[in-house]
Amino acid sequence: MNTTSLFSPLSLGGIDMKNRIVMAPLTRSRASTTGIPAPFAAAYYAQRATAGLVITEATQISFDAMGYCRTPGIHTPEQRAAWSKVVDAVHAKGGKIAVQLWHVGRIASALNRGVAGETVAPSAVQAPGKMWTDQKGMVDHDVPRALEESEIPRIAADFAASAKAAVDLGFDGVEIHSANGYLLHQFLSSNVNQRNDNYGGSIENRVRMPLEVVEAVLDAVPANRVGLRVSPGHEFNGIQETDLEDLYAHYLARLSGYGLAYLHVMRPFANASATDPVTLARGVYKGAIIACGGYTGVTGAQLVSSGGAEAIAFGTNYISNPDLAERIKTGAALTAPHQATFYTPGEKGYTDYPVLAA
Ligand SMILES: Cc1cc2nc3c(=O)[nH]c(=O)nc-3n(C[C@H](O)[C@H](O)[C@H](O)COP(=O)(O)O)c2cc1C
Repeated sequence: MNTTSLFSPLSLGGIDMKNRIVMAPLTRSRASTTGIPAPFAAAYYAQRATAGLVITEATQISFDAMGYCRTPGIHTPEQRAAWSKVVDAVHAKGGKIAVQLWHVGRIASALNRGVAGETVAPSAVQAPGKMWTDQKGMVDHDVPRALEESEIPRIAADFAASAKAAVDLGFDGVEIHSANGYLLHQFLSSNVNQRNDNYGGSIENRVRMPLEVVEAVLDAVPANRVGLRVSPGHEFNGIQETDLEDLYAHYLARLSGYGLAYLHVMRPFANASATDPVTLARGVYKGAIIACGGYTGVTGAQLVSSGGAEAIAFGTNYISNPDLAERIKTGAALTAPHQATFYTPGEKGYTDYPVLAA
């Protein structure tokens, strides 16, 4: 039950952490239909500020980038004002916070946007499965419009503007979402990306759009404030990567050259590939790694002490254990999460999980 390796301080680039425990990004669907974080989001994140780093739920960079119901953005003044209160609340508790910046690409229903937007993707290929809308329940994903090459700089600029706004608000970092089948991952994939221009086909072409996003963000904010999340082999949202090892060897080697604060590697829920993505990343990527996906305090501490990663992110356990860091330290039992309230509006199942008695 030795978890001490998680409790030494760590500097991830320009982000100074008091421990190596990270709250993973968790979409909770408590924002308004126009992407304004709920007033009680500040309390929720502040409750979790004993993590060395809190990473927010995925947060849109534009209205086109919004696809799920009640997810927040950071591209309007109203959204930013609400995030400012979150940042201040986490800092007041001595915590650090990064915002995860996303564009959903084809994983969208127009019904989920309170303001007009357009569902776009590398190719006009509809995602399998269905998604929740408050108006009609489960619906098919939109059929996306394939982006023109000339539109890609605009998306990179939206990421950059949101990153700049986040750092100006006081966020300690920004995390570019290149995982879980959303827009950047759609460009990387070998099935969703069916383009035959400079952004499709070869591995060099498929990494072009994500790297242009990174470069635009790095023109706007210091590299040591920027992280990026990948999920190699995660077939979520209809993604396939038939050349997984070659793809990530190339992508992560290119990312190594930017001096980012960290690379965040998520292990798939059901690992279809034989390759452990954290091991794969460690072999290629030069820089700090946050590992996430199925870790306990003990297995996470083992990974850190063996040099497999610098920090460990915890997802579901952070939903139901605001004081997860203390519980890992003391070996206290964990509260189980209530799945029924993962994505429901309001404070139930959000700010009301118990902490250990002092
Ligand atoms: C309710 C819920 C929401 C999630 N939202 C996000 C998200 O917004 N961005 C993201 O990159 N991953 C998201 N994930 C994945 C988690 O960050 C994490 O990788 C996953 O839960 C595995 O870690 P765990 O085994 O510690 O739970 C979500 C997971 C859950 C359960």
